Amino acid sequence: MTERKGIILAGGSGTRLYPITMGVSKQLMPVYDKPMVYYPLSVLMHAGIREVAIITTPHDQDQFRRLLQDGSQWGMSFTYITQPSPDGLAQAYLLAEDFLDGAPSAMVLGDNIFFGHGLPEALQSADAQEKGGTVFGYHVVDPERYGVVDFDKDGTAREIIEKPEVPPSNFAVTGLYFLDAEAPARARAITPSARGELEIVSLLQSYLEEGTLSVQTMGRGYAWLDTGTHASLLDAGNFVRTMSQRQGLQIGCPEEIAWHNGWIGKELMAQHAKTFGKTDYGGYLAALIREAE
Ligand code: G1P
Repeated sequence: MTERKGIILAGGSGTRLYPITMGVSKQLMPVYDKPMVYYPLSVLMHAGIREVAIITTPHDQDQFRRLLQDGSQWGMSFTYITQPSPDGLAQAYLLAEDFLDGAPSAMVLGDNIFFGHGLPEALQSADAQEKGGTVFGYHVVDPERYGVVDFDKDGTAREIIEKPEVPPSNFAVTGLYFLDAEAPARARAITPSARGELEIVSLLQSYLEEGTLSVQTMGRGYAWLDTGTHASLLDAGNFVRTMSQRQGLQIGCPEEIAWHNGWIGKELMAQHAKTFGKTDYGGYLAALIREAE
């Protein structure tokens, strides 16, 4: 199989977080000690994906480039793509079609934060599926805010409905989509919804109807955190702080994952530790090097 490529969709105007997002992109907001986009990026890295396209609004691109650079600092390669107007999540596959160049993809929304024991393994098995795709369902209290899975009696997903008034289940589809190489062609065939957008659920539905979409549920041991409101953004930061301070283990640390994956060596790692020297983050990286010795 051609190596899977990653897409981080970090466009959008972030109006629900105004005024904090008036000057800065939502996906660059801090979630405790890191920019939000580090967390979805880490998810792709855990799936073993090294080539990633970052889709932003035209005016936010410079800041993303300044933060994330060309990816080589983490043994990766980043491509920047602009989304002139946010016309739906499935549009990302059209914007990224040249970048994908016939490869399967994993797209993650730049504001989705995942945490859980066994997550890297779940991601790697989604990556291993060649035909069709994999999405993840997560039990939430407010499914009407998301794409929602409708299961039949046997627990097989039969439909995914975007923001239904009467949700057929409590399982929201998270913003992480593993799809095969056909995704751009299928996205082109979608007709815009009533609100004028190329809906991700329409794309997923085309796979679902064919029986090639696997809907994996993320159980109780997982956190899928919301950053859509001021309160939930703060809660996500507090969650990361609580977990990482208790365990002394970082969440969403690209340097650590790159080092663990063997994508960067000791020299680069030491350089990163020095860059962040004055922070706990830098101390953490230095300790990882010491432990390996
Ligand atoms: C989008 C998708 C929705 C999905 C959600 C996950 O909604 O349209 O299907 O459940 O992301 O974060 P949005 O957050 O853009 O309203």
